[in-house]
Amino acid sequence: MIYPKLFIPGPTHVDDVTLQAMAQPQVGHRTAEYSELQSAVVSGLQKLLVTEGRVFLFSNPATGVWEAAVRNTVKKGAVNMVNGAFSAKWHTVTRACGLPCEAVNVEWGSAIKPDDVDRALASGRYDVVTLVHNETSTGVLSPVRKIAAMVRQKYPDVLLHVDAVSSMAGVEIRFDEWGLDTCFASVQKAWGLPAGFTVCAVSERCMERSAAMENKGYYFDFMVMDKFHQKMQTPATPSIAHLHGLAKVLRDIDSETPAGRNQRHMQLAKTARAWALKHGQQLFPEKGYESVTMTTIRNVRDWPVQDIYDVLETRGYRMDRGYGQIRGETFRIAHMGNVMPDDLEEYLSQFDAVLKKLGVLQ
Ligand SMILES: Cc1ncc(COP(=O)(O)O)c(C=O)c1O
Repeated sequence: MIYPKLFIPGPTHVDDVTLQAMAQPQVGHRTAEYSELQSAVVSGLQKLLVTEGRVFLFSNPATGVWEAAVRNTVKKGAVNMVNGAFSAKWHTVTRACGLPCEAVNVEWGSAIKPDDVDRALASGRYDVVTLVHNETSTGVLSPVRKIAAMVRQKYPDVLLHVDAVSSMAGVEIRFDEWGLDTCFASVQKAWGLPAGFTVCAVSERCMERSAAMENKGYYFDFMVMDKFHQKMQTPATPSIAHLHGLAKVLRDIDSETPAGRNQRHMQLAKTARAWALKHGQQLFPEKGYESVTMTTIRNVRDWPVQDIYDVLETRGYRMDRGYGQIRGETFRIAHMGNVMPDDLEEYLSQFDAVLKKLGVLQ
């Protein structure tokens, strides 16, 4: 079996050195040896997210942490800010947890702005806001820092949960300074690790709210998480392979430097955007809010996306064909995690060759 190189927005390509770093002998998860590993990972995450607070480790995908965030904190009500498929799903999850919540819908392709959140919170009906930093379905990056500044200033008792699933480890996040209450990411996107694990920074405010909450269940209860976090353990047996993987990627980030890594992602985004525009295509996101980790292209040239996908696959590349209600009308190029400038150049030149083969380009 030959696996195509992935240019989809998750899961992303995992390099062999990282895979090998994950293939370590198991250790008991109640041993000093394990706690040392968790401690190194947590310290690295604190440094990257610029927080002195807790960072919880979940051996499950981010969908679980959507549930954790709301079950630990929604008393009065949550407002789920929705501008795409994943933010909409968080609303579905909040409702499925039986919590009072409402969605505020913003057009797909637009960012969530401080004013949108302000208008919703002015009603006084909510004590929680949920927000997706980088809407992977549309490739829109919302201005979390500005939104958080507004919430902290005008609504000090409202908690702000941020899904950074497809931005963390590719875009700067300053958890304490911005005043976020949770910020989490599963690791199969810009972290460049296999799927199935989520890291989540949690504020003191959030812990205080959780302490007063009932009916949180067990698995996602932040109080239970914290009891074990204090010993640098997790309540249930963790995916130790993922901790080794995270330790390795955190060392890589240290060598590249977080600023250098963010810069690389920005450079890749510029390359992808310029390529799309050069071909007469359009960018789908509202101007000024384009994602840095992926590029969503509005297929105004009516390229035969399925045919391109099929030929790229025979050449060893996995293309994205768009997501949800804009599948086909758009397609996405992921340039995050382990994608280096040479990889993107290679993919775009293969893409051009396929367009020529199909007679789309001369
Ligand atoms: C923005 C965003 N949030 C959440 C998820 C769900 O993540 P997981 O599959 O790790 O549960 C995804 C998956 O693509 C996503 O892109």
